[in-house]
Amino acid sequence: MDIVSLARFQFAMTTVYHFFFVPFSIGTAFAISIMETIYVRTKNEVYKKMARYWGNIFLLSFAVGVVTGLIQEFQFGMNWSDYSRFMGDIFGAPLAFEALLAFFMESTFIGLWTFTWDRVKPGLHALFIWLTSIGSMVSALWILTANSFMQNPVGYTIKDGRAEMTNFFALLKNPQLGFEYGHVIMAALMMGGVIVFGLTAFQLLKAKKNPVSKETMGIYKTSMRFGMWLALIFSVLTIGMGHLQMQYLIKEQPMKFAATEAIYKNTKDPASLALIGFADQKEHKLKGSIEIPGLLSFMSYDKFSGSVKGMDTVNKELTKKYGKYIAGEKMNYYPPVNTLFWSFRIMVGVGMWVALVSLVGLIWTRKKKEGFYQHKWTLWVTGLTLFVPFIGNSAGWFVTEFGRYPWTVYGLFTIKQSVSPNVSVASLLTSNIVYFLLFTFLAAVMISLVVRELRKDPANIDNPQLLEKFLDPFDKGAF
Ligand code: HEM
Repeated sequence: MDIVSLARFQFAMTTVYHFFFVPFSIGTAFAISIMETIYVRTKNEVYKKMARYWGNIFLLSFAVGVVTGLIQEFQFGMNWSDYSRFMGDIFGAPLAFEALLAFFMESTFIGLWTFTWDRVKPGLHALFIWLTSIGSMVSALWILTANSFMQNPVGYTIKDGRAEMTNFFALLKNPQLGFEYGHVIMAALMMGGVIVFGLTAFQLLKAKKNPVSKETMGIYKTSMRFGMWLALIFSVLTIGMGHLQMQYLIKEQPMKFAATEAIYKNTKDPASLALIGFADQKEHKLKGSIEIPGLLSFMSYDKFSGSVKGMDTVNKELTKKYGKYIAGEKMNYYPPVNTLFWSFRIMVGVGMWVALVSLVGLIWTRKKKEGFYQHKWTLWVTGLTLFVPFIGNSAGWFVTEFGRYPWTVYGLFTIKQSVSPNVSVASLLTSNIVYFLLFTFLAAVMISLVVRELRKDPANIDNPQLLEKFLDPFDKGAF
């Protein structure tokens, strides 16, 4: 294995792992903000208990997310020093804002929210979780500002081989950012809903063996429908934002778009959409495809006409624009086609699956109908859906990040130019193994803590005596 591949693997591993927790905490913080607001407005204690119960799960995801974020930054410094030198001036401002404004805001209000239950007025307490939730979303805005620059550089000049910022507001007005931010946040809020209904489904499966009180059952059932509503609304919005983002991509990054559809030659007019297939990257052909006529034109231009440019044409345009060689390296502008083609389909499939499960679940449980809760298979399907958005988010990032190949900063700086000059295969192998073990350990800790939190009875969540019993690791009630 060479240095570039190992560094890329490490980037992918640390980013995917970190991004398990980012939408988790953004989504659950938002869900809890809504629960607590409903409690403040209606005085319905069920929503207060839900906010406390799911709040504990949110706190865990936040804590582990911070640790994974630190590893992510360390990996940047170690493996991508030339990239950091090139981009430092651009990255500096958004990342400083992220740390100073957003992260501090989030952390301060998390603390206030955690320690002031029943000590301040309910309205003020709900404000704390809203400010935490807004802080987490603002934090994502700054990070995605930097990421959007990598996809579509704006407001900069190149001086002494480095990108220097000339207009901070141009970074914020980057059209890439509008689409990317909207899509990522909608997907995170969808995930919040799925986490609530998915974990509830497992609780209900457990309750089949060990029956729970009527009050606890009521909290589970309200959580189930609440999560499904959230997931339904935000899956539809995620799909809508994704659709707009895709149309933007056709204009701004036609190579990435053609690769997600595995189109080598310009298509006929109208263009058909391949549902499945395998791209033969030597013969420049999509094999074994099942196609729906006209659908790709419709998705691309909102009408059943219009052809789509293929990768071979875009490759010629890019070669003409950027040259056959950059920094002495022969360029290949084709991204990994099968990775993009399948990641895109998995992501879209996830959105549709979540929308379907939520819609069917909501219909099946309306007017206090019991059928849904009586079957084990419905609870298993709903429970296993918990893992689906994690896969969808990773697939989404695969499309975005693999799709900008061969660049780290689109049109300005290549992946090979970005790698640290003094990092070795041995050090990369070692750090890859260490991170992998660390992530496995963190995953085990996270899962065991979530399982422990879920053992608490949501109906007695604010009973200090019972809580102490669960928090004491040596008490048999903790196991
Ligand atoms: C019909 C449904 C969807 C469409 C058409 C769609 C479209 C897209 C496109 C075109 C990109 C690449 C954008 C770029 O490179 O600039 C993308 C990225 C992404 N998608 Fe989706 N998507 C859909 C559903 C979903 C779902 C359900 C999730 C979450 C589970 C998701 C999560 C992401 C993420 C995290 C990214 C990377 C960040 C970004 O560039 O926005 N997408 N999506």
